[in-house]
Amino acid sequence: MERPHRSSPLGRDDARRPRRLRADGIRSLVSERSLSAADLIAPIFIDATTEQRQPIESMPGHERVPLKAAVPRVEEVLATGVEAVMLFGIPESKDERGSRAYAEDGVVQAAVRQVTAETDAYVITDVCLCEYTDHGHCGVVETDAHDDPELTVKNDESLDLLAKTAVSHAEAGADMVAPSASLDGMVGAIRQELDEAGFENCPIMSYAAKYESAFYGPFRDAADGAPAFGDRRHYQMDPANSREARREVELDVTEGADVLMVKPALPYLDIVAQVRRDHDHPVAAYNVSGEYAMVHAAGEKGWLDLEAVAQESLLSIKRAGADLILTYFAEDVAAAL
Ligand code: PBG
Repeated sequence: MERPHRSSPLGRDDARRPRRLRADGIRSLVSERSLSAADLIAPIFIDATTEQRQPIESMPGHERVPLKAAVPRVEEVLATGVEAVMLFGIPESKDERGSRAYAEDGVVQAAVRQVTAETDAYVITDVCLCEYTDHGHCGVVETDAHDDPELTVKNDESLDLLAKTAVSHAEAGADMVAPSASLDGMVGAIRQELDEAGFENCPIMSYAAKYESAFYGPFRDAADGAPAFGDRRHYQMDPANSREARREVELDVTEGADVLMVKPALPYLDIVAQVRRDHDHPVAAYNVSGEYAMVHAAGEKGWLDLEAVAQESLLSIKRAGADLILTYFAEDVAAAL
Protein backbone atom coordinates (compact mmCIF):
# COMPACT_ATOMS: atom_id res chain seq x y z
CA MET A 1 0.00 0.00 0.00
CA GLU A 2 1.29 3.37 -0.85
CA ARG A 3 1.97 5.85 1.93
CA PRO A 4 -0.20 8.90 1.73
CA HIS A 5 1.63 11.98 0.64
CA ARG A 6 2.05 14.24 3.67
CA SER A 7 2.69 17.83 2.93
CA SER A 8 4.88 19.64 5.37
CA PRO A 9 4.93 23.34 6.09
CA LEU A 10 8.71 22.96 5.97
CA GLY A 11 8.62 21.53 2.50
CA ARG A 12 8.18 17.97 1.28
CA ASP A 13 11.78 16.86 1.70
CA ASP A 14 12.55 18.66 4.86
CA ALA A 15 13.09 16.13 7.59
CA ARG A 16 15.20 18.55 9.59
CA ARG A 17 13.59 19.92 12.71
CA PRO A 18 16.17 21.35 15.14
CA ARG A 19 13.50 21.64 17.81
CA ARG A 20 13.59 17.86 18.34
CA LEU A 21 16.79 18.26 20.33
CA ARG A 22 15.52 21.14 22.42
CA ALA A 23 13.17 19.04 24.52
CA ASP A 24 13.81 18.67 28.22
CA GLY A 25 15.89 15.60 28.86
CA ILE A 26 17.91 15.89 25.65
CA ARG A 27 18.95 19.55 25.84
CA SER A 28 21.72 18.95 28.33
CA LEU A 29 22.93 15.86 26.47
CA VAL A 30 23.52 17.84 23.31
CA SER A 31 24.75 20.99 25.03
CA GLU A 32 28.10 21.97 23.56
CA ARG A 33 29.47 23.83 26.55
CA SER A 34 28.98 24.45 30.21
CA LEU A 35 30.27 26.88 32.72
CA SER A 36 32.36 25.59 35.54
CA ALA A 37 33.76 27.31 38.60
CA ALA A 38 37.12 25.80 37.64
CA ASP A 39 37.26 28.06 34.56
CA LEU A 40 36.90 31.28 36.51
CA ILE A 41 39.44 33.65 38.02
CA ALA A 42 38.31 36.26 40.55
CA PRO A 43 40.09 39.63 40.56
CA ILE A 44 40.79 41.01 44.03
CA PHE A 45 42.03 44.44 45.12
CA ILE A 46 44.42 44.75 48.04
CA ASP A 47 44.70 48.30 49.31
CA ALA A 48 47.67 49.41 51.42
CA THR A 49 46.04 52.77 52.16
CA THR A 50 43.13 51.48 54.19
CA GLU A 51 42.42 49.61 57.40
CA GLN A 52 38.80 48.93 56.45
CA ARG A 53 37.17 47.06 53.60
CA GLN A 54 36.06 49.76 51.14
CA PRO A 55 33.17 49.10 48.77
CA ILE A 56 33.87 50.05 45.14
CA GLU A 57 30.87 52.10 44.12
CA SER A 58 30.93 51.39 40.41
CA MET A 59 31.46 47.65 40.97
CA PRO A 60 28.71 46.53 43.36
CA GLY A 61 29.77 43.63 45.58
CA HIS A 62 33.48 44.35 45.15
CA GLU A 63 35.79 46.00 47.64
CA ARG A 64 39.30 47.19 48.15
CA VAL A 65 40.47 45.20 51.13
CA PRO A 66 43.31 45.97 53.53
CA LEU A 67 46.26 43.61 53.66
CA LYS A 68 44.98 42.03 56.86
CA ALA A 69 41.79 41.03 55.00
CA ALA A 70 43.58 39.48 52.02
CA VAL A 71 43.34 35.93 53.34
CA PRO A 72 39.69 36.19 54.49
CA ARG A 73 38.80 37.74 51.12
CA VAL A 74 40.45 34.87 49.22
CA GLU A 75 38.71 32.38 51.49
CA GLU A 76 35.37 33.92 50.51
CA VAL A 77 36.24 33.31 46.87
CA LEU A 78 37.32 29.71 47.51
CA ALA A 79 34.06 29.02 49.38
CA THR A 80 32.15 29.61 46.12
CA GLY A 81 34.17 26.95 44.28
CA VAL A 82 36.40 29.39 42.38
CA GLU A 83 39.99 28.23 42.78
CA ALA A 84 42.05 31.06 41.29
CA VAL A 85 42.44 34.74 42.09
CA MET A 86 44.14 37.62 40.34
CA LEU A 87 45.65 40.12 42.76
CA PHE A 88 45.83 43.85 42.12
CA GLY A 89 47.51 46.23 44.53
CA ILE A 90 46.91 49.80 45.61
CA PRO A 91 50.23 50.93 47.12
CA GLU A 92 50.75 53.18 50.14
CA SER A 93 52.62 55.67 47.96
CA LYS A 94 53.31 56.36 44.29
CA ASP A 95 56.28 57.83 42.47
CA GLU A 96 57.57 58.49 38.99
CA ARG A 97 59.08 55.04 38.51
CA GLY A 98 56.40 53.03 40.32
CA SER A 99 58.92 51.71 42.82
CA ARG A 100 56.29 50.15 45.11
CA ALA A 101 55.42 47.77 42.25
CA TYR A 102 58.71 45.90 42.64
CA ALA A 103 59.39 46.46 46.35
CA GLU A 104 59.97 43.29 48.32
CA ASP A 105 57.55 44.57 50.96
CA GLY A 106 55.06 45.92 48.42
CA VAL A 107 51.35 45.37 48.91
CA VAL A 108 50.97 42.61 46.32
CA GLN A 109 54.14 40.85 47.46
CA ALA A 110 52.91 40.87 51.07
CA ALA A 111 49.45 39.69 50.06
CA VAL A 112 50.88 36.88 47.91
CA ARG A 113 53.01 35.68 50.83
CA GLN A 114 50.02 35.51 53.14
CA VAL A 115 47.57 34.03 50.66
CA THR A 116 49.93 31.32 49.42
CA ALA A 117 50.94 30.43 52.99
CA GLU A 118 47.41 30.22 54.33
CA THR A 119 45.13 29.12 51.48
CA ASP A 120 45.10 26.70 48.54
CA ALA A 121 44.17 29.39 46.04
CA TYR A 122 46.03 29.53 42.74
CA VAL A 123 47.49 33.02 42.90
CA ILE A 124 47.99 35.08 39.75
CA THR A 125 49.36 38.61 39.92
CA ASP A 126 48.74 41.52 37.59
CA VAL A 127 52.12 42.90 36.54
CA CYS A 128 51.87 46.57 35.64
CA LEU A 129 53.03 49.95 36.86
CA CYS A 130 49.92 52.10 36.38
CA GLU A 131 48.67 51.67 39.95
CA TYR A 132 52.15 52.54 41.25
CA THR A 133 53.26 55.53 39.18
CA ASP A 134 52.20 59.03 40.24
CA HIS A 135 51.29 59.80 36.61
CA GLY A 136 49.21 56.62 36.23
CA HIS A 137 50.90 55.31 33.08
CA CYS A 138 51.99 51.70 32.68
CA GLY A 139 55.72 52.53 32.53
CA VAL A 140 58.16 55.40 32.94
CA VAL A 141 57.30 58.47 30.91
CA GLU A 142 59.32 61.05 29.04
CA THR A 143 60.11 63.93 31.37
CA ASP A 144 58.27 66.47 29.27
CA ALA A 145 55.39 64.15 28.49
CA HIS A 146 53.04 66.03 30.78
CA ASP A 147 52.50 68.68 28.15
CA ASP A 148 52.75 66.48 25.12
CA PRO A 149 50.04 63.91 24.53
CA GLU A 150 52.19 62.29 21.83
CA LEU A 151 54.93 61.34 24.27
CA THR A 152 53.99 58.74 26.79
CA VAL A 153 55.71 55.61 27.97
CA LYS A 154 59.38 54.87 27.35
CA ASN A 155 59.14 51.29 26.20
CA ASP A 156 62.51 49.65 26.77
CA GLU A 157 63.35 51.41 30.01
CA SER A 158 60.02 50.28 31.43
CA LEU A 159 60.66 46.64 30.55
CA ASP A 160 63.32 46.32 33.26
CA LEU A 161 60.88 47.55 35.87
CA LEU A 162 58.12 45.21 34.72
CA ALA A 163 60.53 42.27 34.77
CA LYS A 164 61.65 43.24 38.28
CA THR A 165 58.01 43.40 39.33
CA ALA A 166 57.29 39.94 37.94
CA VAL A 167 60.34 38.44 39.66
CA SER A 168 59.37 40.04 42.97
CA HIS A 169 55.90 38.48 42.66
CA ALA A 170 57.41 35.08 41.90
CA GLU A 171 59.77 35.42 44.86
CA ALA A 172 56.76 36.13 47.07
CA GLY A 173 55.22 32.87 45.82
CA ALA A 174 52.92 33.86 42.94
CA ASP A 175 51.82 30.81 40.95
CA MET A 176 51.52 32.78 37.69
CA VAL A 177 52.24 36.32 36.53
CA ALA A 178 50.02 38.30 34.17
CA PRO A 179 51.73 41.27 32.55
CA SER A 180 49.21 43.92 31.42
CA ALA A 181 51.33 46.92 30.44
CA SER A 182 51.02 46.36 26.67
CA LEU A 183 54.64 47.29 26.00
CA ASP A 184 56.64 45.76 23.18
CA GLY A 185 58.92 42.96 24.31
CA MET A 186 57.21 42.73 27.70
CA VAL A 187 56.70 38.97 27.75
CA GLY A 188 60.22 38.24 26.53
CA ALA A 189 61.82 40.52 29.11
CA ILE A 190 59.79 38.95 31.92
CA ARG A 191 60.44 35.38 30.72
CA GLN A 192 64.18 36.03 30.65
CA GLU A 193 64.34 37.58 34.13
CA LEU A 194 62.11 34.89 35.63
CA ASP A 195 64.34 32.19 34.16
CA GLU A 196 67.52 33.86 35.37
CA ALA A 197 66.06 34.12 38.87
CA GLY A 198 65.23 30.39 38.86
CA PHE A 199 61.50 30.71 38.14
CA GLU A 200 61.50 28.88 34.84
CA ASN A 201 58.36 27.03 35.94
CA CYS A 202 56.37 30.17 36.67
CA PRO A 203 53.92 30.58 33.77
CA ILE A 204 53.07 33.86 32.07
CA MET A 205 49.51 34.74 31.17
CA SER A 206 49.97 37.61 28.79
CA TYR A 207 47.40 40.31 28.22
CA ALA A 208 48.24 39.57 24.59
CA ALA A 209 45.47 41.47 22.80
CA LYS A 210 44.66 44.35 25.10
CA TYR A 211 42.58 47.16 23.70
CA GLU A 212 42.53 50.82 24.64
CA SER A 213 39.00 50.50 25.95
CA ALA A 214 36.47 52.74 27.64
CA PHE A 215 35.23 49.62 29.44
CA TYR A 216 38.07 49.92 31.99
CA GLY A 217 36.48 52.97 33.62
CA PRO A 218 35.28 51.41 36.89
CA PHE A 219 38.59 49.53 37.32
CA ARG A 220 40.52 52.76 37.18
CA ASP A 221 38.40 54.01 40.08
CA ALA A 222 38.87 50.73 41.91
CA ALA A 223 42.62 50.54 41.51
CA ASP A 224 43.27 54.26 41.28
CA GLY A 225 45.24 53.83 38.07
CA ALA A 226 43.79 56.41 35.68
CA PRO A 227 46.45 58.27 33.72
CA ALA A 228 46.92 61.80 35.10
CA PHE A 229 47.44 63.08 31.57
CA GLY A 230 47.08 61.67 28.09
CA ASP A 231 45.68 58.19 27.53
CA ARG A 232 46.94 54.73 26.69
CA ARG A 233 46.36 54.70 22.96
CA HIS A 234 50.09 54.70 22.22
CA TYR A 235 50.58 51.34 23.86
CA GLN A 236 47.20 49.63 24.03
CA MET A 237 45.50 48.47 20.84
CA ASP A 238 43.10 50.38 18.63
CA PRO A 239 39.58 48.91 18.99
CA ALA A 240 39.27 49.07 15.20
CA ASN A 241 41.96 46.47 14.63
CA SER A 242 41.80 42.70 14.46
CA ARG A 243 44.66 41.85 12.09
CA GLU A 244 46.93 43.77 14.43
CA ALA A 245 45.77 41.49 17.23
CA ARG A 246 47.08 38.56 15.24
CA ARG A 247 50.54 40.15 15.14
CA GLU A 248 50.44 41.16 18.81
CA VAL A 249 49.47 37.69 19.97
CA GLU A 250 52.02 36.03 17.69
CA LEU A 251 54.76 38.15 19.28
CA ASP A 252 53.77 37.06 22.77
CA VAL A 253 53.76 33.43 21.68
CA THR A 254 57.26 33.84 20.28
CA GLU A 255 58.38 35.52 23.48
CA GLY A 256 57.16 32.61 25.58
CA ALA A 257 53.64 33.39 26.79
CA ASP A 258 51.89 30.32 28.22
CA VAL A 259 48.31 31.62 28.26
CA LEU A 260 46.99 34.20 25.79
CA MET A 261 44.49 36.71 27.07
CA VAL A 262 42.09 38.95 25.20
CA LYS A 263 40.74 42.02 26.97
CA PRO A 264 37.95 43.20 27.17
CA ALA A 265 35.83 40.12 26.49
CA LEU A 266 32.26 40.67 25.27
CA PRO A 267 32.95 43.50 22.79
CA TYR A 268 35.93 41.50 21.46
CA LEU A 269 34.56 37.97 21.06
CA ASP A 270 35.72 38.01 17.44
CA ILE A 271 39.26 38.39 18.75
CA VAL A 272 38.76 35.57 21.27
CA ALA A 273 37.59 33.33 18.42
CA GLN A 274 40.51 34.42 16.24
CA VAL A 275 43.12 33.66 18.92
CA ARG A 276 41.39 30.31 19.52
CA ARG A 277 41.67 29.44 15.81
CA ASP A 278 45.25 30.64 15.44
CA HIS A 279 46.86 29.02 18.49
CA ASP A 280 46.80 25.86 20.55
CA HIS A 281 47.58 27.75 23.75
CA PRO A 282 44.96 28.16 26.44
CA VAL A 283 42.99 31.31 25.73
CA ALA A 284 41.81 33.61 28.51
CA ALA A 285 39.34 36.46 28.28
CA TYR A 286 38.99 39.33 30.73
CA ASN A 287 35.36 40.27 31.30
CA VAL A 288 36.33 43.72 32.52
CA SER A 289 34.99 46.17 35.06
CA GLY A 290 32.78 48.08 32.60
CA GLU A 291 31.15 44.88 31.38
CA TYR A 292 30.33 44.07 34.99
CA ALA A 293 29.19 47.57 35.90
CA MET A 294 26.74 47.94 33.03
CA VAL A 295 25.01 44.65 33.72
CA HIS A 296 24.73 45.59 37.38
CA ALA A 297 23.36 49.02 36.58
CA ALA A 298 20.68 47.55 34.31
CA GLY A 299 19.96 44.86 36.89
CA GLU A 300 19.45 47.47 39.60
CA LYS A 301 16.97 49.28 37.40
CA GLY A 302 15.10 46.05 36.85
CA TRP A 303 15.83 46.21 33.12
CA LEU A 304 17.83 42.98 33.00
CA ASP A 305 17.95 39.78 35.02
CA LEU A 306 21.40 40.13 36.54
CA GLU A 307 22.10 36.47 37.23
CA ALA A 308 20.83 35.25 33.85
CA VAL A 309 22.76 37.90 31.94
CA ALA A 310 25.94 37.20 33.89
CA GLN A 311 25.73 33.47 33.12
CA GLU A 312 24.87 34.05 29.47
CA SER A 313 27.79 36.47 29.14
CA LEU A 314 30.29 33.99 30.54
CA LEU A 315 28.88 31.15 28.46
CA SER A 316 29.20 33.30 25.33
CA ILE A 317 32.82 34.01 26.18
CA LYS A 318 33.46 30.28 26.43
CA ARG A 319 31.57 29.60 23.20
CA ALA A 320 33.80 32.12 21.43
CA GLY A 321 36.76 29.99 22.49
CA ALA A 322 38.01 31.08 25.90
CA ASP A 323 39.20 28.37 28.26
CA LEU A 324 39.48 30.63 31.27
CA ILE A 325 37.62 33.78 32.19
CA LEU A 326 38.68 36.57 34.49
CA THR A 327 35.48 38.05 35.79
CA TYR A 328 34.03 40.06 38.65
CA PHE A 329 31.03 37.72 38.34
CA ALA A 330 33.19 34.72 39.30
CA GLU A 331 31.90 34.29 42.83
CA ASP A 332 28.23 34.93 42.11
CA VAL A 333 28.13 32.71 39.04
CA ALA A 334 30.12 29.92 40.71
CA ALA A 335 27.86 29.99 43.74
CA ALA A 336 24.77 29.77 41.51
CA LEU A 337 26.07 26.82 39.43
C1 PBG B 1 46.46 47.54 34.40
C2 PBG B 1 45.14 46.92 34.21
C3 PBG B 1 43.93 47.51 33.82
C4 PBG B 1 42.96 46.51 33.89
C5 PBG B 1 43.61 45.35 34.25
N1 PBG B 1 44.95 45.61 34.43
C6 PBG B 1 43.61 48.91 33.51
C7 PBG B 1 44.09 49.51 32.28
O1 PBG B 1 44.80 48.93 31.47
O2 PBG B 1 43.77 50.68 32.09
C8 PBG B 1 41.51 46.69 33.61
C9 PBG B 1 40.62 45.69 34.25
C10 PBG B 1 39.18 46.03 34.28
O3 PBG B 1 38.71 47.04 33.73
O4 PBG B 1 38.46 45.26 34.91
N2 PBG B 1 47.13 47.95 33.27
